[in-house]
Amino acid sequence: MKDYNLTIISNNQIARDVFKTEFSCQEQLPSFIGGQFLHLQVPCKILRRPLGILEMTANYCSIVYAVVGEGTRILSKMKKGDCLKAMLPLGNGFVLPKTYKKVALLGGGLGVVPLLPVINTYPEIEFCSYMGFKSRDDVILYDEFNKLSKKICFTTEDGSFGSCGFSIDALKDDLETNNFDAVLVCGSIPMLKEVKKANFKIPVYVSMEERMGCGVGACLVCTCQVKKGNNIENLRVCIDGPVFKLDEVAL
Ligand SMILES: Cc1cc2nc3c(=O)[nH]c(=O)nc-3n(C[C@H](O)[C@H](O)[C@H](O)COP(=O)(O)OP(=O)(O)OC[C@H]3O[C@@H](n4cnc5c(N)ncnc54)[C@H](O)[C@@H]3O)c2cc1C
Ligand code: FES
Repeated sequence: MKDYNLTIISNNQIARDVFKTEFSCQEQLPSFIGGQFLHLQVPCKILRRPLGILEMTANYCSIVYAVVGEGTRILSKMKKGDCLKAMLPLGNGFVLPKTYKKVALLGGGLGVVPLLPVINTYPEIEFCSYMGFKSRDDVILYDEFNKLSKKICFTTEDGSFGSCGFSIDALKDDLETNNFDAVLVCGSIPMLKEVKKANFKIPVYVSMEERMGCGVGACLVCTCQVKKGNNIENLRVCIDGPVFKLDEVAL
């Protein structure tokens, strides 16, 4: 997998503890599909950090990330003109059948990031977006989802932005009246467990997060258990995923 030299063109805080970094690249960047990620070499850190690709064109790409530890803290302090290496695009992304016409996107917190580019990946599909956050200070990418989605529902747990409650409940309310072909989910493990429990009776695809070493299938750091028929297989989130069918993954 190729390593690209990226140069920061902007690095701005867009919500509480959340930053958007935009990069330019002198080399031509490849195409990607929503749900794929890059593996970023942050200064002073041996292990790279996996982050979803938000946008990527020939000489430009962007990411949105929460500052949760050392690596993302260092990244958030980097300036315009600073350079980093990134392997990209990694993982399978959301690969959808050509027959799909209407799909629901269900995101929680930073889990909304890999869902946004799926809309541009499949211009022929109608997307309805259900995105949940704790509070208005945590809300990200509202304008972007609003511009691209057929229907949008943003929720906050305290009701300070959009509807009060959880995005999964907003989706449940709409499931009866909309003929969704599938639901694509990305969020916390408790949220994924709720989705599994809800048993939507249509295909549900989930983007999983696991700690990673190599990012390219060699080290087996990132394995998760996936049910294939009657067997349980250990699959690598970096290369077999990060997107799996929800009913196949052990949470
Ligand atoms: C496929 C994929 C896509 C992701 N996309 C995004 C995104 O778009 N935006 C975003 O904010 N976060 C995303 N994450 C989570 C992100 O990788 C972690 O928040 C980040 O690596 C934390 O690094 P740190 O050094 O700040 O934290 P530390 O806790 O200091 O990290 C220590 C080690 O644990 C790893 N680690 C810690 N938390 C996670 C985690 N949740 N998932 C995987 N590895 C972790 C780090 O990479 C590092 O190797 C994604 C994770 C995966 C697997
Ligand atoms: S991170 Fe090495 S196999 Fe997935």
